[in-house]
Amino acid sequence: MTLKYNINSKFKREWQKKIIDWYKVNKRDLPWRKRRNQNFYKIWISEVMLQQTIVKTVIPYYEKFIERWPNLKSFFDASLDEILLYWQGLGYYQRAKNLFKAKEYLKKNKLYINSTNLKKVPGIGDYISSAISAILKNENCAVVDGNIKRILRRVFNLNENEKLFNKKILFIAKELTPVSQNGFYCQSLMDFANLVCKAKKPLCGNCILKKMCNFDLKKEKTNKQNLKIKKIGVGFFVNKNKNFLIEMSKKKLLQGLYSIPLSDFVIKEKKIESQIINQIISDWMSSNNLKTRFKVLGYVNHIFSHFHLKLFIVDIKLKEKISFNELEWVTEKTFDTKPKSTLMKKVKKKMLCKS
Ligand code: ADE
Repeated sequence: MTLKYNINSKFKREWQKKIIDWYKVNKRDLPWRKRRNQNFYKIWISEVMLQQTIVKTVIPYYEKFIERWPNLKSFFDASLDEILLYWQGLGYYQRAKNLFKAKEYLKKNKLYINSTNLKKVPGIGDYISSAISAILKNENCAVVDGNIKRILRRVFNLNENEKLFNKKILFIAKELTPVSQNGFYCQSLMDFANLVCKAKKPLCGNCILKKMCNFDLKKEKTNKQNLKIKKIGVGFFVNKNKNFLIEMSKKKLLQGLYSIPLSDFVIKEKKIESQIINQIISDWMSSNNLKTRFKVLGYVNHIFSHFHLKLFIVDIKLKEKISFNELEWVTEKTFDTKPKSTLMKKVKKKMLCKS
């Protein structure tokens, strides 16, 4: 791959110095940065939580998690259900399942910690392995998450849609990674991306990288949130007296969590919403051999990372408790003990106050 970026040693030195100096003054005081939390286990947990979730949301989850399992040894005994319980509301539940798989592996295999060895652990990929190794050991591996990508994309004026975008970013990131102090360097980029080179409204005015940066704020598409896809779906509140049906969700986004049965989420096209919903409901009723009357209780809105969901909730009152494949009858109290998503908490509020 031929790259035309002007990353000579002067540029590199200046870049690394600016980033590290900025960190010394602006470093955020975060729980996983405390000296007592600078070990493999705690850095690992924090990075997994932070991978798709903002710092403010992660802090209370991190603290409760560490209180429950203060070290790797105690975490070795954790059950998947309990990990999911501590994860509920944090989203991207595959991360919790991966933590479980990884700790089972670590129980059996002793590892010397570096980015190459960590990649052997199930569920630990490029980002987590390099972030841990850089923060804990100052290994000079390139740490690239969505935030760091944004800084490099702007500085080097790359377009996300261009061919080889990810390869180019990785090439640049490797070139710029310092031989020493990579722990400070990568955490500085993380903070800089959140405080200055923000996704929305970046503070370009007095940015320390201004002279080195090719970003044109006016050209970047504004408000990406508005571009999010809109989807609709249906949640089936099938009930008899105070009991209702739930299942272990099969949806990728909600894996391992309990939910009332949900339809597929479909993109809301021009067709009238009520027509789509009625079709979904009648398909679901006939595939489950139900001829009962139903009532739409209302809907809840939820924002996933890449789409907006409007989920309608349908009340289906049965005359008797029929058994359904892979569905379980529960009371509200039992449902409360099961791990569930934020979406399902919203749904529960709606279904139990209106039915
Ligand atoms: N985002 C991902 N990892 C982070 C970290 N260690 N500190 C702050 N933000 C982060």
